[in-house]
Order: sequence, then structure tokens, then C-alpha cells
Amino acid sequence: MDNFTFYSPTYFVFGKEEENNAGKYVQRFGGKKVLIHYGGGSAVRSGLLDRVKKSLTQAGLEYVELGGVKPNPRSGLVYEGIGLCRKEKVDFILAVGGGSTIDSAKAIAIGVPYEGDFWDFYQGKAAAEALPIGTVLTIAAAGSEGGNGSVITHEEGNYKRATGSEVLYPKFSILNPALTQTLPAYQTACGITDIMAHLLERYFTNTKEVEVTDRLLEALLLTMIKEGPKAIENPNDYGARANIMWAGMMAHNDSCGVGRSQDWASHEIEHELSGAYDCAHGAGLAVVMPAVMKYNMYRDVNRFARLAVNVWGCQMNFDHPEETAKEGIEAFQHFLAKIHMPSNLEDLGAREEDIEMLAHNCSYGAGRTGILNGFAALTEQDIINIYHLMG
Ligand code: NZQ
Ligand code: ZN
Repeated sequence: MDNFTFYSPTYFVFGKEEENNAGKYVQRFGGKKVLIHYGGGSAVRSGLLDRVKKSLTQAGLEYVELGGVKPNPRSGLVYEGIGLCRKEKVDFILAVGGGSTIDSAKAIAIGVPYEGDFWDFYQGKAAAEALPIGTVLTIAAAGSEGGNGSVITHEEGNYKRATGSEVLYPKFSILNPALTQTLPAYQTACGITDIMAHLLERYFTNTKEVEVTDRLLEALLLTMIKEGPKAIENPNDYGARANIMWAGMMAHNDSCGVGRSQDWASHEIEHELSGAYDCAHGAGLAVVMPAVMKYNMYRDVNRFARLAVNVWGCQMNFDHPEETAKEGIEAFQHFLAKIHMPSNLEDLGAREEDIEMLAHNCSYGAGRTGILNGFAALTEQDIINIYHLMG
């Protein structure tokens, strides 16, 4: 196991109706004038936004609103939010929504105290200061509610980039699983796929003797395999929603990723797709991950065989462990098909003739040096080969 530090300062509030306490938590973390940031309307339709506003008013807090965050959140609304916060002297941002809304809130939060262009932080500059943020989560997926990352799509060129900083951990996150019961089956499945990707990207490690995190990752993957289809079949299954929601947080606050090298190739390769074609991140991952796994399998057949046995229940073939490894990847593909995730580039609206451009952006975009380092060191040609495996 490698040396590590672990910092997870978010105050989590989990359970039914806890959104009605949003005002209390904003107050607890020092907010007086709040920006409520939300998405395309689901929080309005469900009445959630009204409940949150009522709670802020009851706590004696002033607020302004900025809705309209799109999935794969865009830079344009971030600039608007920065301007609004400065004008209204906002001192706390409350994101009500999914990963896109939370990431947009985080981008505004680092943009407000910064004199330059907030996009600098998405091109490698480290953020040292931010307005505090809180979240009311409505979809279990990205894990942004417990993490220090934010992913934004720049409107000029449609490329998607990430930043991370200690100042971006939410002060508090309210996780009420019942709020996710209004999700369409497709979005639920995208979330399940993203959560599994966050676990798998950590599972594919080159670090030895990391049994504690290996076992945690396997346990969470088994949870997703059991609970995911239940939530899709019965959207009102509170128990399944609750398990998925907490698994989604644990999958990405890095409690299961400490002390080990991680991969993230699937995420980088997928971000080019959702940036260029505006597909859902989870749907993109459903197409990318099996291809990356097939391409990288021979780097450590035993790790893939272990995943197949411990997570997918395959029988170990001791004479030919590569057969077991392949069976595990097939079992994953069956699972993705069962939850109706796409299986090829065409399903995502992606064009085969764009592959070279996508691979080039993935290898060299935003100051990258040509090698995608992770479980394997992938060159531009490797990435082209991987896109071609997606059919
Ligand atoms: O905008 P509204 O109307 O709210 O609709 C959303 C959106 O259309 C809808 N939705 C959310 N909660 C709902 C609901 N519909 C009905 N009932 C509810 N309770 O679902 C759609 C997707 O929402 P979005 O926020 O985009 O989903 P998600 O949480 O999957 O976020 C995706 C974004 O997160 C980024 C992705 O790249 C993508 O841009 N990621 C962020 C990460 C991070 N910050 O650490 C890591 C991830 O790997 C990921 O890259
Ligand atoms: Zn993800």
C-alpha cells in the first residue's frame, strides 16, 4: 500500500425529508446570502425547490436563484453565475440537483473570488479559494456531493475538462434517497453505471497489497449489482435507492481509493464523447469501459480474473485465467444490457470518422503530453484502437 492522506470534510445529512433542514445547515456553515443553483426543471416540478426556499426563509436567509444547468454543464452559465454572485454579494452557494448542478456550483464558487478566467482552473491552475457550497442531491451518480472535483464543458469547442481542489469539498450534502424516486429509468441506469465506473477505475491498480480497499470496492460493486436493477424495476423502492445513494458517495470520496494507483482512462476517453456529442456521462461509460477493459486485460490477467470471481461469480479457470477474466467482462456487458445502457458509439450519436480527432484531444487537449497514464500508459494510437473496439 502507498503512503496517503485522506481528507473528507463534508457534513453528510442522510434520510427522508432532510431537505427541509437546508436553511439550518447553510446557517451552520456561515451563509447569509445564498445562490440557489439548479438544473433544467426537475426540482421545480417535484416541488423540491419550493421546500428548499421555504427552509431558507424560515432560517432568516436571503437568496437569489439561477436555474438552467444542463447535463454536461456549460461554461456560459458559470460566467453568468459568477457575475450574479458578485453583484448580489452572495456568500454561500446551494446546489439543488445532480452532478451537473453541483459541478456548475463549484465552478462558480472558485470563479467568484478569482480575478482571471475561471477556466484557468480547468486547464491545470490550482484553486486556493472558493465560496462555500452545500448540496441537496437528486441523483446518485457523479459523487460530486462528497468529492473535490468539478467537470465543465467549454462551449467554444465543446470540450470537457475537470478540476479538483480541497476548497471544493461541499460544506454539507443532504442525501434524501426519496428525491431520486422521480428519476426516469434511463437516468437511474446512467447513475448506476457511473458509480460502478468510479469503483472499477480504482479497482484497476498496479499497487500491491491493498486488500482493504480491494474488498471495499468489491462490496460496493456487489451492492450495485444487487440494488441497481431493483431501483430500475421499482423506482419507489426506497431501500434500493438508499443503498445506491450511499454507495455513490462512497465510490467517489476516495475512501476506497486511498493508498493505491488508480486508472481513470475510461473517464478521460468518455469525457471526449459527452463533450463532443452531449450524451449522458454514464451512457458513454457503458460503451467505453468494456472496450478499455478488453484492451487492458492482458496487463494483469489475474486482477481481471479476481474481479470476475469475486464480483461476477465466475468459476476460476486456473489453467486459463484469461478465460475467467474475459467471462467477467462479458458478465459486466450483460449487466449493462439488462439495465438498458447503450453498447456502441452509434448509440451515443458518435461518428466513427471522428475517432482520430477524439483520440487526439484526449491525448493532447488542455496541456496533456500525449500519454494517458493510469493502469496502463496509453498512447494516442492506443486510444484510437480503444475507440475502434466500441463498434
Ligand atoms: O436538470 P434537471 O431537470 O434537474 O434534470 C436532470 C438531468 O436531465 C435529471 N434529474 C436529476 N435529478 C432528477 C432528475 N430528473 C428527475 N428526478 C430527479 N430527482 O437527470 C439528468 C442528469 O442530471 P446530471 O446532474 O447531469 O447527472 P449526473 O449526476 O450524472 O452528473 C453528470 C455530470 O457529472 C460529471 C459528468 O461528466 C457530467 O457532466 N461528473 C462529475 C464528477 C465529479 N464532479 O467528481 C465525476 C464524474 O465521473 C463525472 O465526470
Ligand atoms: Zn464518472
